[in-house]
Amino acid sequence: MAYDAHPNSLEKHWMPFTDNRGFKEDPRLVVEASGVYATSHRGEQIIDGSSGLFCSPAGHCHPKIIEAVHQQMQKNTYTAPFGLGHPASFQLADKVAALTPDGIDHVFFVNSGSEAIDTALKIVMSYHSARGENRHRFVSRERAYHGVNIGGVSLSGMVNNRRTFPVVMPNVVMMRHTWTGDEINIKGQPQQGRELAEDLERACQTYGGNTIAACFVEPVAGSTGTLVPPVGYLERLREICDAHGILLVFDEVITGFGRLGTNFAAQRFGVTPDIMTMAKALTNGSMPMGAVAVRDEIYETVTDTAAPGAIEFFHGYTYSGHPAACAAGLATLEIYEEEGLFQRSADMEEYFGDAMQSLSDHPLVRDVRTIGLMAGVEVYADTAPGKRGTQLQKDMFWNGMHVKFTGDSAIMAPMFIAERTHIDEMTTKFRKTLDQHI
Ligand SMILES: Cc1ncc(COP(=O)(O)O)c(C=O)c1O
Repeated sequence: MAYDAHPNSLEKHWMPFTDNRGFKEDPRLVVEASGVYATSHRGEQIIDGSSGLFCSPAGHCHPKIIEAVHQQMQKNTYTAPFGLGHPASFQLADKVAALTPDGIDHVFFVNSGSEAIDTALKIVMSYHSARGENRHRFVSRERAYHGVNIGGVSLSGMVNNRRTFPVVMPNVVMMRHTWTGDEINIKGQPQQGRELAEDLERACQTYGGNTIAACFVEPVAGSTGTLVPPVGYLERLREICDAHGILLVFDEVITGFGRLGTNFAAQRFGVTPDIMTMAKALTNGSMPMGAVAVRDEIYETVTDTAAPGAIEFFHGYTYSGHPAACAAGLATLEIYEEEGLFQRSADMEEYFGDAMQSLSDHPLVRDVRTIGLMAGVEVYADTAPGKRGTQLQKDMFWNGMHVKFTGDSAIMAPMFIAERTHIDEMTTKFRKTLDQHI
């Protein structure tokens, strides 16, 4: 049923990462959602091509999550998390640790991907400080997206996310990104480009490897439009980190929880980091929650060097491990297992990859990059970078599909419950909208 989008002016809410003026003239509201579909305020059915913001592999409004949160809220709506606990956060930490690679078994809860990144930065600092090492430099990468808090912006390699925020953390060194343009319209990892990992070695030679605290990378750079790591690239980063005592941090906020068909990208690529950040699909997007999982020795070093009885890590959020978020997380991880959703993701990879690659013959498409259930469909820029992408995102919505665009790249990320017919519907709506732009 249609819903009046203008019961008020929509003016008071300053919306995030949105063209507020354009939106308020032509609002796009979702009034309800179920499974792979949402309903717009005009009453139209919208297929979700990006799982919200890569959050909801099990589909919107999963009844099991709703019930679990409801039950939890009847028992306990809040427990102060500093020096006090409630059962669900410990249960959830066990479940998360069972999914991370062996040896990464300690989990710190936060409320978002951005908080996970800031927390990871502080864990890195605490670890080196506990070991008496003066490492004060961080390495990140061009086109990286690590959220929007000051830590994440400092590590950011996307210019619009930095431009108006000049006062960020110093001592961040950027490696080059891994999209060379040599291999376009491919499924999976590029064969060429492993040598780009040598940028980390060059930073070690320039600044001294023993001054570098950590190297942060998204195993597949997501928000910039799915940049898949070249074969051997992540392995080489791991080797260089080991040689210089640098911690390797994988930001798995998008790639975690089955997006690449495995628990995490770490398992897909066979490279184990020291620290992993995650959020989004941890609760199927139903509750705000993120986490940082660390190698056991990192936890032990930080805790064992503190004086007995003292707080070991001066960090935490009022809502760390919130009971409702933990209940949602526990239900979500059960659903992934019971419904075999990571396997479904793996099984759909080829069909989805072919479907997205079929768009590569369109005259507006510059490159299509796919891996797992993630695709970057990049269109040629119009008169200004991002102009065409922004308009396409709006037009796709009114053609019945939600897709997240960053600049001129669409980031497709279907839910793991999606059937082939849903993938076909997404591909058809994508092409139809592109055709309207010729
Ligand atoms: C890799 C990565 N890190 C961090 C974040 C930030 O997460 P949040 O928006 O939950 O703060 C995102 C969000 O898309 C992300 O893709």
